[in-house]
Amino acid sequence: MKRQTSVLMAIVVALGLMATSASADIKKGQKGYLKTCKKCHGNGTKGAAMQTQGAWEELFANDATLIKSKHTGTKGEKFFGGKKFKKLAPHLKDFLYQYGSDSGNVPSCG
Ligand code: HEC
Repeated sequence: MKRQTSVLMAIVVALGLMATSASADIKKGQKGYLKTCKKCHGNGTKGAAMQTQGAWEELFANDATLIKSKHTGTKGEKFFGGKKFKKLAPHLKDFLYQYGSDSGNVPSCG
């Protein structure tokens, strides 16, 4: 009985961790967006709705090659080539994908 309880507890804890880390990524991405993209592309709702979910997939595929190339020759070029973007990219993608123009989702703030 005791053992069963602890196995159950472990599952609950594991599920809880999974849930928080998934939403943390989107939150992190939203924060990153507001910090780094907003000044050029407007608030998060507007920014994420620039593209469909499929287009965000493509933009961030292969080490985010496409979104980087979109910014070549813009003032954003330096940021996209840097370490900061590399670290932030998966979170940004989670956020942008979650709220892509065909997602039906709207971020609560931003
Ligand atoms: C210094 C300004 C600047 C920053 C910072 C910046 N961008 Fe851009 N972005 C541009 C410009 C300029 C273009 C090219 C013109 C356009 O399509 O609006 C562009 C293009 C894009 C495009 C392609 C639009 C299209 O229709 O093909 C996407 C998507 C995009 N940016 C997303 C982002 C994201 C996400 C971030 C933050 C990680 C970001 N940008 C940060 C200036 C910026």
